[in-house]
Amino acid sequence: MSPEVLKPDVVSILKDDQLEVEERLTGVCELLQKSIDHYDWVGFYFANHDTRTLHLKAFAGIPTDHTEIPFGKGICGQVAESNSNFVVPDVQAQDNYIACSINVKAEIVIPLFKDRVNIGQIDIDSNTPDPFTPEDERFLEWVNENVAKIL
Ligand code: SME
Repeated sequence: MSPEVLKPDVVSILKDDQLEVEERLTGVCELLQKSIDHYDWVGFYFANHDTRTLHLKAFAGIPTDHTEIPFGKGICGQVAESNSNFVVPDVQAQDNYIACSINVKAEIVIPLFKDRVNIGQIDIDSNTPDPFTPEDERFLEWVNENVAKIL
C-alpha cells in the first residue's frame, strides 16, 4: 500500500485540537504502525539543544529503553547532528547503532525542522530487511512538515 493514502488521516489527527500535541503524535505513530506492513515501530524524538540529547515523546510498537539518546549516538543521534535523512537497509552493517530489539532489520530516521532548525525526528524500525524506498522518505518528510505546523 502506498503511504500516500494515509495523508488525509494524518491531517485530521494533527488538527484535532481536543487532544494534546503528544496525544496527536501518538495517534500518528499508531496510524502509521498499524497501516504500513514494514513499519514495526514508529516514534518521535525531540531534541534538547542545551543538553544535546534526544527525548522520546510519542511512539507505537514495543516499548523501548532508549527514551533518551545523546546527539551523535546511534542512527537517531547521528541525524540530530547531520540534519539529513538516514536510511539503513541493514542495521547489522552499522557500527554506530543502538539496538532496540533483536527483530529489527532496518531503520529510517527523518529529521523534523521547525523554522529551519532540526528539532527532532521520526524514527521507524522495520523487521523486514531493506524495505524503505524514496517514497517512504518523501512521505515521512511530509508527515514531519505537518507535525511542525502544530508545534
Ligand atoms: N535504533 C536507534 C535507537 C532508537 S530505537 O530504534 C527505538 C538508533 O540507533 O539510534
